[in-house]
Amino acid sequence: MLPDLLSRFPPTGNLVYDVDTLLAAHGRERIREHIPRVAREARRLAGRFGVNPDRAEAAALLHDLGGIFEWGGMADLCLSLGLSVEPEERQVPMLLHAKLSEVLARELYGVKDAGVLQAVRFHTTLHSAPTPLDEVVFLADKLEWDQGGVPPYHADLTRALDGGLQAAARWMLAWMATPEARLLIPHPDLKAAWAHYGVPAP
Ligand SMILES: [Fe+2]
Ligand SMILES: [Fe+2]
Repeated sequence: MLPDLLSRFPPTGNLVYDVDTLLAAHGRERIREHIPRVAREARRLAGRFGVNPDRAEAAALLHDLGGIFEWGGMADLCLSLGLSVEPEERQVPMLLHAKLSEVLARELYGVKDAGVLQAVRFHTTLHSAPTPLDEVVFLADKLEWDQGGVPPYHADLTRALDGGLQAAARWMLAWMATPEARLLIPHPDLKAAWAHYGVPAP
Protein backbone atom coordinates (compact mmCIF):
# COMPACT_ATOMS: atom_id res chain seq x y z
CA MET A 1 0.00 0.00 0.00
CA LEU A 2 2.66 2.52 1.04
CA PRO A 3 5.11 1.85 -1.83
CA ASP A 4 2.19 2.24 -4.24
CA LEU A 5 1.15 5.55 -2.68
CA LEU A 6 4.76 6.77 -2.64
CA SER A 7 5.18 6.07 -6.34
CA ARG A 8 1.82 7.56 -7.31
CA PHE A 9 2.04 10.60 -5.03
CA PRO A 10 5.70 11.45 -4.49
CA PRO A 11 5.98 14.25 -1.94
CA THR A 12 6.86 17.62 -3.46
CA GLY A 13 7.88 19.25 -0.18
CA ASN A 14 4.74 21.38 -0.21
CA LEU A 15 2.53 19.69 2.38
CA VAL A 16 -0.56 21.79 1.63
CA TYR A 17 -0.39 20.80 -2.04
CA ASP A 18 0.53 17.15 -1.37
CA VAL A 19 -2.30 16.55 1.10
CA ASP A 20 -4.85 18.21 -1.14
CA THR A 21 -3.68 16.20 -4.16
CA LEU A 22 -3.86 12.90 -2.26
CA LEU A 23 -7.35 13.60 -0.95
CA ALA A 24 -8.58 14.78 -4.37
CA ALA A 25 -7.23 11.66 -6.08
CA HIS A 26 -9.24 9.53 -3.62
CA GLY A 27 -12.42 11.57 -4.08
CA ARG A 28 -12.43 12.72 -0.46
CA GLU A 29 -14.01 16.11 -1.11
CA ARG A 30 -15.47 16.48 2.38
CA ILE A 31 -12.09 15.97 4.04
CA ARG A 32 -10.46 18.14 1.39
CA GLU A 33 -12.72 21.03 2.32
CA HIS A 34 -12.27 20.39 6.07
CA ILE A 35 -8.45 20.32 6.14
CA PRO A 36 -7.62 23.96 5.29
CA ARG A 37 -10.21 25.15 7.82
CA VAL A 38 -8.67 23.00 10.58
CA ALA A 39 -5.17 24.08 9.59
CA ARG A 40 -6.17 27.77 9.80
CA GLU A 41 -7.86 27.29 13.17
CA ALA A 42 -4.93 25.24 14.53
CA ARG A 43 -2.52 28.03 13.58
CA ARG A 44 -4.78 30.59 15.21
CA LEU A 45 -5.15 28.63 18.47
CA ALA A 46 -1.44 27.86 18.53
CA GLY A 47 -0.58 31.56 18.21
CA ARG A 48 -3.04 32.43 20.96
CA PHE A 49 -1.83 29.80 23.44
CA GLY A 50 1.93 29.78 22.89
CA VAL A 51 2.16 26.60 20.83
CA ASN A 52 4.39 26.43 17.74
CA PRO A 53 2.04 27.39 14.87
CA ASP A 54 4.03 25.51 12.21
CA ARG A 55 3.81 22.23 14.13
CA ALA A 56 0.10 22.80 14.78
CA GLU A 57 -0.55 23.51 11.11
CA ALA A 58 1.44 20.45 10.00
CA ALA A 59 -0.50 18.16 12.34
CA ALA A 60 -3.78 19.68 11.18
CA LEU A 61 -2.89 19.16 7.52
CA LEU A 62 -2.06 15.50 8.21
CA HIS A 63 -4.71 14.56 10.75
CA ASP A 64 -7.36 13.01 8.49
CA LEU A 65 -5.22 11.46 5.74
CA GLY A 66 -6.26 7.99 6.92
CA GLY A 67 -9.67 8.87 5.52
CA ILE A 68 -8.42 7.97 2.03
CA PHE A 69 -8.95 4.30 2.95
CA GLU A 70 -12.30 2.53 2.89
CA TRP A 71 -13.65 1.89 6.40
CA GLY A 72 -14.26 -1.78 5.64
CA GLY A 73 -10.57 -2.40 4.97
CA MET A 74 -9.09 -0.33 7.78
CA ALA A 75 -8.77 -3.09 10.40
CA ASP A 76 -6.97 -5.49 8.04
CA LEU A 77 -4.78 -2.68 6.77
CA CYS A 78 -3.76 -1.77 10.33
CA LEU A 79 -2.96 -5.39 11.13
CA SER A 80 -0.87 -5.70 7.95
CA LEU A 81 1.07 -2.62 9.08
CA GLY A 82 1.72 -4.17 12.49
CA LEU A 83 -0.70 -1.84 14.29
CA SER A 84 -2.97 -3.07 17.06
CA VAL A 85 -6.73 -3.06 16.52
CA GLU A 86 -8.87 -2.65 19.64
CA PRO A 87 -12.28 -4.35 19.91
CA GLU A 88 -13.92 -0.89 19.76
CA GLU A 89 -12.03 -0.22 16.51
CA ARG A 90 -13.26 -3.52 15.07
CA GLN A 91 -16.80 -2.39 15.82
CA VAL A 92 -16.32 1.15 14.47
CA PRO A 93 -13.43 0.92 11.97
CA MET A 94 -13.67 4.63 11.23
CA LEU A 95 -11.89 5.12 14.59
CA LEU A 96 -8.77 3.70 12.93
CA HIS A 97 -8.39 6.61 10.53
CA ALA A 98 -6.22 8.56 12.98
CA LYS A 99 -3.73 5.70 13.40
CA LEU A 100 -3.52 5.42 9.62
CA SER A 101 -3.05 9.19 9.33
CA GLU A 102 -0.02 8.87 11.60
CA VAL A 103 1.44 6.10 9.43
CA LEU A 104 0.95 8.17 6.26
CA ALA A 105 2.48 11.24 7.90
CA ARG A 106 5.56 9.24 8.81
CA GLU A 107 5.95 6.94 5.84
CA LEU A 108 4.66 9.11 2.99
CA TYR A 109 5.77 12.56 4.11
CA GLY A 110 8.73 11.63 6.32
CA VAL A 111 7.40 13.44 9.39
CA LYS A 112 9.74 12.69 12.30
CA ASP A 113 8.45 15.16 14.88
CA ALA A 114 7.05 12.82 17.58
CA GLY A 115 4.86 15.58 18.99
CA VAL A 116 3.24 16.25 15.61
CA LEU A 117 2.69 12.51 15.05
CA GLN A 118 1.11 12.21 18.50
CA ALA A 119 -1.26 15.13 17.83
CA VAL A 120 -2.32 13.42 14.58
CA ARG A 121 -2.84 10.07 16.27
CA PHE A 122 -5.00 11.41 19.10
CA HIS A 123 -6.91 14.18 17.32
CA THR A 124 -10.32 12.52 17.72
CA THR A 125 -10.23 11.70 21.42
CA LEU A 126 -7.09 13.01 23.14
CA HIS A 127 -5.60 10.50 25.59
CA SER A 128 -4.09 10.03 29.05
CA ALA A 129 -1.15 12.46 28.68
CA PRO A 130 -2.11 15.24 26.26
CA THR A 131 0.23 18.08 25.31
CA PRO A 132 -0.88 21.62 24.42
CA LEU A 133 -0.17 20.72 20.76
CA ASP A 134 -2.51 17.71 21.07
CA GLU A 135 -5.18 19.98 22.55
CA VAL A 136 -4.78 22.58 19.79
CA VAL A 137 -5.28 20.01 17.02
CA PHE A 138 -8.14 18.28 18.86
CA LEU A 139 -9.95 21.59 19.41
CA ALA A 140 -9.31 22.93 15.90
CA ASP A 141 -10.78 19.72 14.47
CA LYS A 142 -13.86 20.09 16.68
CA LEU A 143 -14.38 23.81 15.96
CA GLU A 144 -14.05 23.22 12.20
CA TRP A 145 -15.82 19.87 12.02
CA ASP A 146 -16.54 18.04 8.78
CA GLN A 147 -20.27 17.44 9.35
CA GLY A 148 -21.45 20.54 7.49
CA GLY A 149 -22.54 23.86 8.98
CA VAL A 150 -21.62 25.11 12.43
CA PRO A 151 -21.29 22.49 15.20
CA PRO A 152 -23.98 22.77 17.92
CA TYR A 153 -21.30 23.35 20.58
CA HIS A 154 -19.35 25.99 18.65
CA ALA A 155 -20.34 29.04 20.74
CA ASP A 156 -19.89 27.24 24.07
CA LEU A 157 -16.53 25.81 23.08
CA THR A 158 -15.37 29.21 21.87
CA ARG A 159 -16.34 30.63 25.27
CA ALA A 160 -14.55 27.78 27.06
CA LEU A 161 -11.35 28.76 25.25
CA ASP A 162 -11.32 31.96 27.31
CA GLY A 163 -10.32 29.69 30.20
CA GLY A 164 -7.37 28.27 28.25
CA LEU A 165 -6.60 25.18 26.20
CA GLN A 166 -7.03 22.69 29.03
CA ALA A 167 -10.37 24.12 30.10
CA ALA A 168 -11.60 24.04 26.51
CA ALA A 169 -10.40 20.48 25.98
CA ARG A 170 -12.14 19.45 29.18
CA TRP A 171 -15.33 21.20 28.09
CA MET A 172 -15.26 19.44 24.71
CA LEU A 173 -14.62 16.04 26.28
CA ALA A 174 -17.50 16.61 28.69
CA TRP A 175 -19.78 17.44 25.74
CA MET A 176 -18.66 14.21 24.08
CA ALA A 177 -19.96 12.36 27.15
CA THR A 178 -23.48 13.80 26.69
CA PRO A 179 -26.26 12.08 24.71
CA GLU A 180 -26.16 14.97 22.22
CA ALA A 181 -22.78 13.73 21.01
CA ARG A 182 -24.42 10.46 19.90
CA LEU A 183 -21.12 8.67 20.37
CA LEU A 184 -21.08 5.33 18.54
CA ILE A 185 -18.70 3.79 21.07
CA PRO A 186 -16.25 5.24 23.61
CA HIS A 187 -12.74 4.51 22.37
CA PRO A 188 -10.24 3.45 25.09
CA ASP A 189 -8.27 6.64 24.41
CA LEU A 190 -11.41 8.70 25.00
CA LYS A 191 -11.98 6.93 28.32
CA ALA A 192 -8.36 7.68 29.23
CA ALA A 193 -8.87 11.34 28.29
CA TRP A 194 -12.05 11.56 30.39
CA ALA A 195 -10.09 10.18 33.34
CA HIS A 196 -7.19 12.58 32.75
CA TYR A 197 -9.45 15.65 32.65
CA GLY A 198 -11.74 14.44 35.44
CA VAL A 199 -14.78 14.12 33.19
CA PRO A 200 -17.28 11.55 34.52
CA ALA A 201 -17.77 8.84 31.90
CA PRO A 202 -21.42 8.48 30.77
FE1 LIG B 1 -10.48 12.76 12.10
FE1 LIG C 1 -10.83 16.11 11.08
